[in-house]
Amino acid sequence: MAAAWGRCVSRAWLCRRDLSHPQTPKGGPSFGPNNPTLVPLCRTAWQGCGRNYRAALCTELKRPLVIEEVSPRPVKPHEVRVNVHFCGINFADILACRGQYQERHQLPFTPGIEFSGMVLETGTDVSMVKEGDRVIGLPGFGGMAEECITDHKNLWQIPEKVSLREAAALPVSYGTAIFALEHRACTQPGETVLVTAAAGATGLAVIDVATNILQAKVIAAAGSDEKCQLAMQRGAQSSVNYSRGSLKEAVGKLVGTGGVNVVIDMVGGDVFLEALRSLAYEGRIVVVGFAGGTIASVPANLLLLKNIAAMGLYWGRYRHQNFPIFSRSLSSALQYCQEGRIQPHIGEVFKLEEVNDAFLHVTQRKSTGKVLLSLK
Ligand SMILES: NC(=O)c1ccc[n+]([C@@H]2O[C@H](COP(=O)([O-])OP(=O)(O)OC[C@H]3O[C@@H](n4cnc5c(N)ncnc54)[C@H](OP(=O)(O)O)[C@@H]3O)[C@@H](O)[C@H]2O)c1
Repeated sequence: MAAAWGRCVSRAWLCRRDLSHPQTPKGGPSFGPNNPTLVPLCRTAWQGCGRNYRAALCTELKRPLVIEEVSPRPVKPHEVRVNVHFCGINFADILACRGQYQERHQLPFTPGIEFSGMVLETGTDVSMVKEGDRVIGLPGFGGMAEECITDHKNLWQIPEKVSLREAAALPVSYGTAIFALEHRACTQPGETVLVTAAAGATGLAVIDVATNILQAKVIAAAGSDEKCQLAMQRGAQSSVNYSRGSLKEAVGKLVGTGGVNVVIDMVGGDVFLEALRSLAYEGRIVVVGFAGGTIASVPANLLLLKNIAAMGLYWGRYRHQNFPIFSRSLSSALQYCQEGRIQPHIGEVFKLEEVNDAFLHVTQRKSTGKVLLSLK
């Protein structure tokens, strides 16, 4: 595990107490892992190769992350060391740090499933990328650090017109949006797509891809008037604020009894059920997430009555099950962005030492579009 290897002997906040504040009473330091606003730092060199770098670490589940100095380890023949510039914040990171994600990591670990950066060093067997190349990475975890070592298969080259900032916003959100709309729902030009949590990272990516790549019409559903407004600015044809009343009734007023052709749902619970009831004959609903925290049961009679298809999407699973189409979804996102056909919306950029604030920003429903950590 990249971040655990060669960790500083002392947790950084202990270093600060020992070196800078020798008088700090043992019983009540005002800094440490439980007080993320006072960010720990220790520049003490330790054995290892190269310079130390900072990383966010989950040392205990359901506790704030801590920032530590870690020593780099050598790259293996198939690996690449990347100087990370931006790392995307995802629900998957937050759930992993609570021990609630489907993929479990051994403690301590550095979260961060997607990043952009520049190649610093390559292993002896690596020929696809070279030092200085700009890349996006999907390392599984470990992206919330100034450096990340990952298998070369987890990297994709960034085309020249795409900035490192934009590139970091593409992998998970646009990979998922492209997969949900194209591969799962087989969305056709002119069809109507209803997207929930429409002002979130995935929601805005769905609007972008549906309108600008697939020529579909989008109804954006979100939890506030401001979020609805943003979704409209980003290409949705109409919007519904589902905190104000029935989503099904509001959609019915927009499209009549016919219903919508496709639903991409990120919320779950009652929002999912109302969206399901908004579908047209031969409609398709894609279950992408449960941001609202409730997993609904599907009334199977609804599927039968209107010949509806309900399907799930776990985008990351395609990496193991069908790598070529997984990789194609990323290459497509990068290519669309290079051609100026899509444009990711970055709502907020936090510094590494603000990682706990960034997590709160997302869980408190304050975020719009992609939230990034800047490592520079
Ligand atoms: N299956 C996959 O492969 C895959 C891939 C990417 C993401 N996802 C999932 O999709 C969901 C959305 O991801 P995202 O990256 O787009 O997240 P995001 O940008 O943080 O957006 C999440 C949105 O969900 C809505 N929401 C409703 N109830 C919420 C609650 N109790 N707490 C927090 N948010 C709530 C909020 O919008 P409103 O205020 O408008 O309701 C919020 O803006 C997550 O569940 C994520 O795990 C799944």
